[in-house]
Amino acid sequence: MKVLVTGGFGQVGSTVAGMLLARGDEVLSIDNFATGRRDNLVEHPLLTAVEGSIVDPDLVARCFEEFKPEMVVHTAASYKDPDDWYTDSMVNAAGTANIAKACRDHKVRRLVYFQTALCYGTNPQQSPITLDHPINPVNSSYAISKTAGEHYVQFSGVEWVTFRLANVIGERNVSGPLPIFYSRLSEGKKCFVTEARRDFCYAGDLAKVVVRALDGVGSGTYHFSSGHDVAIKELYDAVVRAMKLNDYPVPEVRPLGPDDAASILLDPSRLFADFGDVSFTPLDEIARVSVERWANEGVVGGYTHLKEARGEIRENNK
Ligand SMILES: NC(=O)c1ccc[n+]([C@@H]2O[C@H](COP(=O)([O-])OP(=O)(O)OC[C@H]3O[C@@H](n4cnc5c(N)ncnc54)[C@H](O)[C@@H]3O)[C@@H](O)[C@H]2O)c1
Repeated sequence: MKVLVTGGFGQVGSTVAGMLLARGDEVLSIDNFATGRRDNLVEHPLLTAVEGSIVDPDLVARCFEEFKPEMVVHTAASYKDPDDWYTDSMVNAAGTANIAKACRDHKVRRLVYFQTALCYGTNPQQSPITLDHPINPVNSSYAISKTAGEHYVQFSGVEWVTFRLANVIGERNVSGPLPIFYSRLSEGKKCFVTEARRDFCYAGDLAKVVVRALDGVGSGTYHFSSGHDVAIKELYDAVVRAMKLNDYPVPEVRPLGPDDAASILLDPSRLFADFGDVSFTPLDEIARVSVERWANEGVVGGYTHLKEARGEIRENNK
């Protein structure tokens, strides 16, 4: 199978690409390394790595014409500066339009997309959130532009699968609390946690489901979720345990910022109905593999699309 993976050096893209390469599929990645790590994928005879942006329609057209993908896994996204509306809209909306249109023009068999749970807004009407919850991406440029992207995917006429995600983490994670907790704790700095609860899922577990979607399982929209959320403080404690710290700063608990949600718990029943037995790696194991990698290879990122948290991180890092 020939699979074009956008953002092939990012957390989800590289994990999916690695699984496809390991079973003998051909992969072409388009990545501009905005948040991707070059060491997420090693050279492989079945891998073509194109450095460039999905915003460039000529580059996208050339990749589709020359590689002739049968399937597309579209993970590339912009989110690292909540005030950079221009890049978010160009990458997440216009870039996704480029990919969706190229999929239509080249008769790609399946297009897999990843939507943020923030498409439901920061004050969802339900917990867990069901797939028919109103779409209301009012609180971030990231959510607005990712929602436009999801509409382009659905508009393409190509058979599509969208996984709506809350928090996907692991050793290749560059955004949100996990890499932030690790890097601050390794420098002996104090952390803060909010009162929020999240369903932290392992990128490797998502990637297995994506590969099954490429093999024809499922169709349409899914919540990739375990159905259980934990307090952010529990993730902090898991990192502390994985780092084997005896003496560590007790985190300050802060109220939620205006662009944050108290809980984002997604109802996974459709995922379980169509994909059956989905595995969810325990939090302690996710923290263990992440800490192991970062201790050896260094941690990068710690980006967040949340304005308040970002200001705080800047402040604390002074
Ligand atoms: N990780 C999560 O918790 C989460 C939650 C909700 C949605 N998502 C969505 O899942 C997808 C994968 O997320 P991830 O965690 O792997 O993120 P990531 O940042 O690790 O990967 C994104 C990749 O896209 C690349 N990229 C960015 N802009 C690009 C451009 N213009 N052209 C080409 N490549 C570009 C980056 O360099 C990176 O390699 C994204 O679409 C994201 O919006 C992720």
